[in-house]
Amino acid sequence: MNADGRTRLNQTPEWTALAKHREELGEVRLRELFAAEPGRGTAYALRVGDLYVDYSKHLVTDDTLRLLRELAAATDVFGLRDAMFRGEKINVTEDRAVLHTALRAPRDAVIEVDGENVVPGVHAVLDKMAGFADRVRSGEWTGHTGKRIRNVVNIGIGGSDLGPAMAYEALRPFTARDLTFRFVSNVDGADLHEAVRDLDPAETLFIVASKTFTTIETITNATSARSWLLKGLGGDEKAVAKHFVALSTNTEKVAGFGIDVDNMFEFWDWVGGRYSYDSAIGLSLMIAIGPDRFREMLDGFHIVDEHFRTAPAESNVPLLLGLLGIWYGNFHDAQSHAVLPYSHYLSKFTAYLQQLDMESNGKSVDRDGRPVQWQTGPVVWGTPGTNGQHAYYQLIHQGTKLIPADFIGFARPVAELSEELKAQHDLLMANFFAQTQALAFGKTPDEVRAEGVPEELVPHKTFQGNHPTTTILAPELTPSVLGQLVALYEHKVFVQGAVWNIDSFDQWGVELGKVLAKRVEPALTEGAEVEGLDASTEALVATYRELRGR
Ligand code: F6P
Repeated sequence: MNADGRTRLNQTPEWTALAKHREELGEVRLRELFAAEPGRGTAYALRVGDLYVDYSKHLVTDDTLRLLRELAAATDVFGLRDAMFRGEKINVTEDRAVLHTALRAPRDAVIEVDGENVVPGVHAVLDKMAGFADRVRSGEWTGHTGKRIRNVVNIGIGGSDLGPAMAYEALRPFTARDLTFRFVSNVDGADLHEAVRDLDPAETLFIVASKTFTTIETITNATSARSWLLKGLGGDEKAVAKHFVALSTNTEKVAGFGIDVDNMFEFWDWVGGRYSYDSAIGLSLMIAIGPDRFREMLDGFHIVDEHFRTAPAESNVPLLLGLLGIWYGNFHDAQSHAVLPYSHYLSKFTAYLQQLDMESNGKSVDRDGRPVQWQTGPVVWGTPGTNGQHAYYQLIHQGTKLIPADFIGFARPVAELSEELKAQHDLLMANFFAQTQALAFGKTPDEVRAEGVPEELVPHKTFQGNHPTTTILAPELTPSVLGQLVALYEHKVFVQGAVWNIDSFDQWGVELGKVLAKRVEPALTEGAEVEGLDASTEALVATYRELRGR
């Protein structure tokens, strides 16, 4: 019980039971768990949509899973889930509904926010996007000089960049290969420079993606892009209407920037930035893969939404993955979580998940503003295998840290590879299976000795094993499968935030840096004296100006 008379998460009987269970389980060995239960490989596996999820290589027993589910029940995860799907304002600090699930709801669904069904609006925007995407793809939409659009440059940052950029990479084999797509996010002018330096302005469409349309990086880059365009097209302001479209919730700001609001694709304040790439924010992706494929992706999201909404706790995959994360973060002191996709096309997937997870659950006060007394979101990191194997896997295998990891792989390579390159897929996947095996079961000193290794090298060549992993296997990386994967992680993050009783849908932590950047900027650009700088920053600014020659 707390001073305010309310029981905190870590004082609940369910939490205490888990802590006790953790002690009793001690140094449970995966080798022993598998030996004791020969059917574990299939018993500890679930399917959702096209995804086969193996969680057998986790440091858990049936009791652990039951106790974790009891924690979820005690914290009413499913109650909050239902409130989210109903459109209730569960983003408490911003007093907003959280309805990214409505973005992929079928046309005839009814989901109300403040008494209004939002689904028709969602589909009206999707239809408008589809019409526009088709016109760009077919060449019917031309630039100011009458040339067809060949290049699409998305300007946005955070959720207005990571999602479309990730999904474009993921679905490259499905994209219109005669169009070039670039994604500009960094306020470092080098980003825009490299994105447009080899492009013809007459053939270039800029998509300015910003929920708020006030984000300094995006507005600065969009302004520079407009100058680049006008310079290249002789300065006629009318060119902007043919070369700039906006994706935003803020009509006024879009108009203020000079973009025709007919060329604006809207979304709503109940879509969080990091949950938005299946909204209008996905326009660049829709142009790349076409409206039908985009629809398939939304249907993939919806499959997992429905699963999360209706599957019982025992077979609810996002619930399970969320709870496993809690098991390690809160009862094993794991600080990070690796996501390791065995697909070149998922090269940006983990970076995308970093925002999804870390911006959502990087919180240290609960929904009532009280400091939490338990660990919240992990550091999420990782890059595609097999590259990581030759870089940081050493630490996962033999370092001192516990790093739970997700391995994501596909049974089939993409269709357009040559036969020779397709044949490499089995080698890729052999690595995929070998790694989770090595991580789980390791190699004992006796096994090392049996190979004739000299005694002094035995400790070095021994693998402790017992490193927990989830394996997610799908037939192929299609638009639907990508949607399923993203929704799976969205709901996993939701589950964890619900248990920890934090608001997973605000992001106040990014504000202070923005305010301080505004304050310090005049000192850099105009040499202004900025009051109240700390001694370190003051010296750094002075050195910067000296080096910059100002
Ligand atoms: O980093 C803060 C943030 O607000 C993210 O949540 C968001 O995705 C990003 O900035 C971009 O915001 P906007 O789409 O409004 O430009």
